[in-house]
Amino acid sequence: MGEVNQQRLRELFRNHFGHDAASIVQAPGRVNLIGEHTDYNGGFVLPAAINYSTCIAFSPTNNRELHIVAENFNAQKVVIDLDKPMQPDADAPWSNYARGVVQELQKRRYRLAGGHLLISGNVPAGAGLSSSASLEVALVRALTELSGEAIDPTNAALVGQAAENNFVGCNCGIMDQLISALGQESSALLIDCEDLSTRSISIPEDWEILIVHSGVKRGLVESEYNQRRVQCETAAHFFGQKELRGVSLEQLLAAEDKLDPLSFRRARHVLTENERTLTAANALSVGDMPTLIRVMAESHESMRDDFNITTPVIDHLVEILQQAGAGEAGARMTGGGFGGCVVAVAPSKIIPQLVAAVEQRYEADTGCVPRLIPAKASRGAFAH
Ligand code: GLA
Repeated sequence: MGEVNQQRLRELFRNHFGHDAASIVQAPGRVNLIGEHTDYNGGFVLPAAINYSTCIAFSPTNNRELHIVAENFNAQKVVIDLDKPMQPDADAPWSNYARGVVQELQKRRYRLAGGHLLISGNVPAGAGLSSSASLEVALVRALTELSGEAIDPTNAALVGQAAENNFVGCNCGIMDQLISALGQESSALLIDCEDLSTRSISIPEDWEILIVHSGVKRGLVESEYNQRRVQCETAAHFFGQKELRGVSLEQLLAAEDKLDPLSFRRARHVLTENERTLTAANALSVGDMPTLIRVMAESHESMRDDFNITTPVIDHLVEILQQAGAGEAGARMTGGGFGGCVVAVAPSKIIPQLVAAVEQRYEADTGCVPRLIPAKASRGAFAH
């Protein structure tokens, strides 16, 4: 895995369209180190872009059609007429991301132009590593470059998020698109999702990120996800706020017997997670591994007990990593939840013992097949 092969992409493009690609854009997936389900509450997140990306090779045409081929979906091809209203396509669901991005760019008055596009990526799909966001951000970059429009990374992220919210139907927050657009090599990004300000925090050189896919396909993600969002908003409204960022942990704790127990637990996860994320960012910036390990563990417990988005198998995988690290590795589930991946952060010398423990115990204990995904914090979207 690792980098998408550019030469191969150019070759595939030539095979499909009979001429050379003019350009290639690339946007990465992400792993979130901590700060889960906080983004749509105006809170804090600490993700890193990873060395798995969606690439789009493209060239302009002189008409008003986009001809798009998705290499990862059996080289299925769609044609999108830029002058017709965008309609969802049940036969090519992947293309709805393109349709959504076109619609959102047009809403914002970006000029668009026809082109040939070939999409290919190696972000594991359905793993909680933001293959969708990387596709959206790559599409925004490719479509704006095709028509010669400039768009800054934050706006590119906002367009991608709007496409997902309004066209695809998942009410996701801004984290995935923003880190895909703005990631920096060897760094995590602390994002304040209230004002979208960011602080880049370099990851100590001798630490590594290990992602482990639980082998559990994420189920019910969208319905459960949207439901969590509504529950958080309900809790915020109880305090007369639009989002939970406007509520303090003290206020929440003082209102425990007035708020329904479910809203209380959801809100407690979000507000304590915000604090843990800030603590983790500071710990990372000074290389304080024990603190990072502690807050990652607390984050997982809070996702398990208050937010109810983990599964027993994922909990077990986290336990295996924590035990194997013997106090020297942080581990927690990462991403939206209900399956998908676990992230571990540890000094490089500890990584082999984490890998060995997963290989020896996980499948034997759970019957699920793990997939080890070594990751490097990488730069955000760019054009070749
Ligand atoms: C998904 C969403 C993000 C974020 C995470 C949970 O990845 O797309 O916006 O809410 O879940 O932290």
